[in-house]
Amino acid sequence: MNYPAGTAYIDGAFVPMSEAKISVLDWGFLHSDATYDVVHVWKGRFFRLDSHIERFLRSADRLRLTLPVSPGELARILAECVARSGFQDAYVEMVLTRGASPTFSRDLRDARHQLICFAIPFGWILRPEQREAGLSIVLSDIRRIPPDSVDPTVKNYHWLDFVMGLYDAYDRGAQSAVLTDAGGNLAEGPGFNIFTVRQGRIATPDRGVLRGVTRQTAIALAAELGFPLEERLVAAAEALAADEVFVTSTAGGIMPVTRINAAAVGAGRMGPVTRALLEAYWARHDDPAWSTSVDEVLSGNLAG
Ligand SMILES: Cc1ncc(COP(=O)(O)O)c(C=O)c1O
Repeated sequence: MNYPAGTAYIDGAFVPMSEAKISVLDWGFLHSDATYDVVHVWKGRFFRLDSHIERFLRSADRLRLTLPVSPGELARILAECVARSGFQDAYVEMVLTRGASPTFSRDLRDARHQLICFAIPFGWILRPEQREAGLSIVLSDIRRIPPDSVDPTVKNYHWLDFVMGLYDAYDRGAQSAVLTDAGGNLAEGPGFNIFTVRQGRIATPDRGVLRGVTRQTAIALAAELGFPLEERLVAAAEALAADEVFVTSTAGGIMPVTRINAAAVGAGRMGPVTRALLEAYWARHDDPAWSTSVDEVLSGNLAG
């Protein structure tokens, strides 16, 4: 097994990624019984760390998982993972698993919940040098897990619908996939939310999706830049007829989609609305309202 560089926190200690191991009996592994969140660090600063920690706490609460540390301690553990890794740009994940019962009983209430954090090199859905070309995606026939089965606002590892969607994309020569709901409306993709732009108006699904922190950021930036935006049901057909489509994720920010089902989206290159949002997004990475340096977090100042 090959491991990336980086530092993990597991069983209360900081270790190299290659030493971060869990029991195969952890229900996080056996049943995807876990929640997680991912925040990125860019040029030594966390981006919207408080929003990610807030969502992580809410997800844990909804799944009846108990975080063994305070939110402030969690922030310092994440910062320590980054500092020890030496990265200026990093992909920083926090995971809370159900764990297992010390007596191996099947009663979930006996489980000891496990907190695992790690910092690894920044991971991109679309690398910066690929931005002008944009992403090629398919609208997969695979339906997103219904929200009344697994709550998509709780960040979770129930990814087999996305995994099969990705294989669907690979088979059709595309890079990624967006899944739809039972009514043929857009849901989301493996690790990202989706937006359409038609005649200057932006739309993004308002249900059946994770409230992505990058999604929320794009919505705030659209308001600042004066782009009208609606959160509503978005029919899959609207993506095919859009002037622009973009996706949002901590793993890459705001990213243009230039091909859907092998056909060009609009002019087939990054459009002006996407470009303005993308530029505003990266420009805000050193704004103290939305970012905090790793050193500040280490010294106990949680913000950003
Ligand atoms: C299913 C899903 N939707 C959307 C997102 C985007 O969320 P964020 O912008 O908070 O990274 C993610 C991130 O991993 C995700 O897993």
